[in-house]
Amino acid sequence: MQTKLVAPSLLAADFGNLQRDIELVNKSEADWFHIDIMDGVFVPNISYGMPVLKAMAKHANKPLDVHLMIVDPDRYIKTFASLGADNLSVHLEACTHLHRTLQAIKAEGMKAGVALNPHTSVSLLQDTIQDIDLVCLMSVNPGFGGQSFIENTYAKISALKDLIIQKNASTLIEIDGGVSSKNAKKLVETGADVLVAGSFVFGSDNPTETISKLKEEIA
Ligand code: DX5
Ligand code: ZN
Repeated sequence: MQTKLVAPSLLAADFGNLQRDIELVNKSEADWFHIDIMDGVFVPNISYGMPVLKAMAKHANKPLDVHLMIVDPDRYIKTFASLGADNLSVHLEACTHLHRTLQAIKAEGMKAGVALNPHTSVSLLQDTIQDIDLVCLMSVNPGFGGQSFIENTYAKISALKDLIIQKNASTLIEIDGGVSSKNAKKLVETGADVLVAGSFVFGSDNPTETISKLKEEIA
């Protein structure tokens, strides 16, 4: 069975001590850095942009899993590749020509991800799943950290897993929002491969230990 991954979300890091928090993740058992880019249009919040990502990439020594919550993401695919993104996820709801966007991401040497809002059915991926490396199922409405997990996500994981098997695809399932020790085990048992965790990790007394515990719970 494929190893289950943990991706701490830097949205919940201490921006005044970003280098410290990145080095903490470097030394931890975490697998990826999850980096949330928000434009204030696709979502009602603005996080950080290119200069900050550039600074993060300088210190991070694990893959950068970049989650774009922006309209018209095609405009910035080359830019994110040049900044060091390893995975680039776009929102299905923000793409008019998803198939073209996926090819453009891969042409830049990145893994192509598609994120789905809580209201978006996984059935909309039946004609593209074989072209998708990673599906990010939003288990909260995107835009903010620290929100409550939406229980319907389990049903979406099952439906997505069925679709992946049916189409003989090798897509990873990532869960983003409200992940904690309360749901981690059940999420991977249902079919998740990657768990993003922001406030649960950085809001804890000992983020390194919290990451280790999460990894242990889903091993
Ligand atoms: C929300 C972001 C998430 C966020 C998760 O729009 O996509 O990655 O950082 O934060 P928590 O784990 O606090 O829900
Ligand atoms: Zn995210």
